[in-house]
Amino acid sequence: MINLKLKTIASLIEKDDIVLDTCSDHAYLAIYLKENKLCKDVFASDINLNALNGAKRNIEKAHLEIKTYLSDGFKNISNDNIDTVVIAGVGTSTVLDIIKGAPKNIQKYIISSNNNHEYLRKALYEQGLFIQKEEVVFEKGKYYVIMLVTKTYQKENKLSLKYGKSNNKDYYLSLLKKEQDVLDKVPKSKLLLKFSHKKNIKSLKRIIQRM
Ligand SMILES: C[S@@+](CC[C@H](N)C(=O)[O-])C[C@H]1O[C@@H](n2cnc3c(N)ncnc32)[C@H](O)[C@@H]1O
Repeated sequence: MINLKLKTIASLIEKDDIVLDTCSDHAYLAIYLKENKLCKDVFASDINLNALNGAKRNIEKAHLEIKTYLSDGFKNISNDNIDTVVIAGVGTSTVLDIIKGAPKNIQKYIISSNNNHEYLRKALYEQGLFIQKEEVVFEKGKYYVIMLVTKTYQKENKLSLKYGKSNNKDYYLSLLKKEQDVLDKVPKSKLLLKFSHKKNIKSLKRIIQRM
């Protein structure tokens, strides 16, 4: 079943895109894209055979034809037509491994990493991949950060790399609360650590005030 995170990812895909959903698991995103004719073509892949078999069953049930690949990232995929890649529901190190093995002609990535967003933003920037837009959605008690990434240059600064570019005020408020919680726990003696959390709180307050 398509959830808010996958729907938001789908909203960043365009009619002309030829999409590979890596890490597709159940293939709900690919099915949604195909059923609603939201892109030119879509493929689904996963590293895990059970996941891929589940995907195949779901595709069959939906009476659709979607080519699937059993593959760690791009390792078993030779399809030159793909220009848009979705990498969602895995950690930042997997995201970066998949990008490292991707063909050079990929124009667009839609990424939703489970962790280390600041590190991911910096790593993308350093390899000439720029975040055009960030969406943050809240689902089942959790925030999901979704990044639209292309090769078109975008300026970044310390704050945008650290906290992203979404306009979700509640997300920033939740980060502010996290920083405050950490600050409350830092022992008085750890002055430097205290200072860095105070700095983060100040930065976040500035972002929120501007919204
Ligand atoms: C939590 S599911 C994510 C499903 C969906 N993309 C989402 O965001 O809701 C993660 C999936 O990623 C797959 N996966 C993990 N590492 C992978 C890799 N290197 N290449 C392809 N798939 C991978 C797992 O087998 C699993 O099915």
